[in-house]
Amino acid sequence: MKIAVLAGDGIGPEVTREAVKALRAALGPAAGLELIEAPIGQAGVEAAGDPLPMQTLQIAREAHAILFGAAGIPGDETIPYMMRPGASLLRLRKDLELFANFRPAFLFDELVEASTLKREVVEGLDILILRELTGDLYFGEPRGFSVDARGEREAVNTMRYSEGEIERIAHLAFQTARKRRGKVCSVDKANVLEVMQLWREVVTRVGRDYPDVELSHMFVDAAVMALMKAPKAFDVIVTGNVFGDILSDGAAMLTGSIGMLPTASLGVGRKGLYEPVHGSAPDIAGQGVANPLAAILSFEMALRWSLDRTEFADRLFAAVGRALDAGARTRDIGGRLTTVEMGAAVVAQL
Ligand code: IPM
Ligand code: MG
Repeated sequence: MKIAVLAGDGIGPEVTREAVKALRAALGPAAGLELIEAPIGQAGVEAAGDPLPMQTLQIAREAHAILFGAAGIPGDETIPYMMRPGASLLRLRKDLELFANFRPAFLFDELVEASTLKREVVEGLDILILRELTGDLYFGEPRGFSVDARGEREAVNTMRYSEGEIERIAHLAFQTARKRRGKVCSVDKANVLEVMQLWREVVTRVGRDYPDVELSHMFVDAAVMALMKAPKAFDVIVTGNVFGDILSDGAAMLTGSIGMLPTASLGVGRKGLYEPVHGSAPDIAGQGVANPLAAILSFEMALRWSLDRTEFADRLFAAVGRALDAGARTRDIGGRLTTVEMGAAVVAQL
């Protein structure tokens, strides 16, 4: 099986390097997995004059799983879309039709003290945000800058969802909930936006096919409050691209550090893109202090979901738990280990 390794920018290469070491240690020599590295983001611009070089895209298209580090540089937002390093990730998600983004937020017992929330609020937390990833304001047309009749500049983005797009993510939410605690909360803004009225209608309709799953609806503002107040009341949260982006950073903080959270983006088949939620983090890039656990846990998800290597995934997950048990901590979770030392702590457990 082929695995594309796209380390990218910022702390991407630092954490990816450690995650690859952990992956190799978990698998051993005879795993039958081929790792193929390719540049993306600013690294793609430097290597091939394009944040998403054709060759990288080709490798990603052919891979069974994509291990992604991070893409983006400071000032990214001022660069035109097709040359913007950070947008390479969006283009990749869209090209591969990875419409379903699974963002679990779970707390290792060892890290209860790392959360800014009280122990009783977060202890044992295990929720999943299922974020739609290829629609909404991110990709809706029309979009862009223009000048109005009076010569004033304006800009527009379009929040758009088709019934089919909502249906397929809703089905996944219910199917996922069946394997967990049987609850789906759909988050929208149906009190204001037509597109979100459609969202609620379609999710409700799809829900009738899953009478064994409990469905609730929440407006996004109320959902943020509930997430901070009683996060353990949730099981699966299904939501659109924009709300999912925002809610998942919030959920990350429940677990103490965004440096802990992996994510999987899937399309129709088993192929997926796996990445840490944290992004390129230019403020700490190059210092060797980033937490590699989100990247390691992303690769763990790849083994489980795309590569059919469940026993190795279990082994890798357990090793992370034991490393934390043994007191291994990077700065973001209250310790002093460097990225390399944290990676080594996990490898030592393997
Ligand atoms: C994420 C990130 C991306 C997004 C950025 C880097 C484009 O914030 O994966 O949550 O907004 O989707
Ligand atoms: Mg985000």
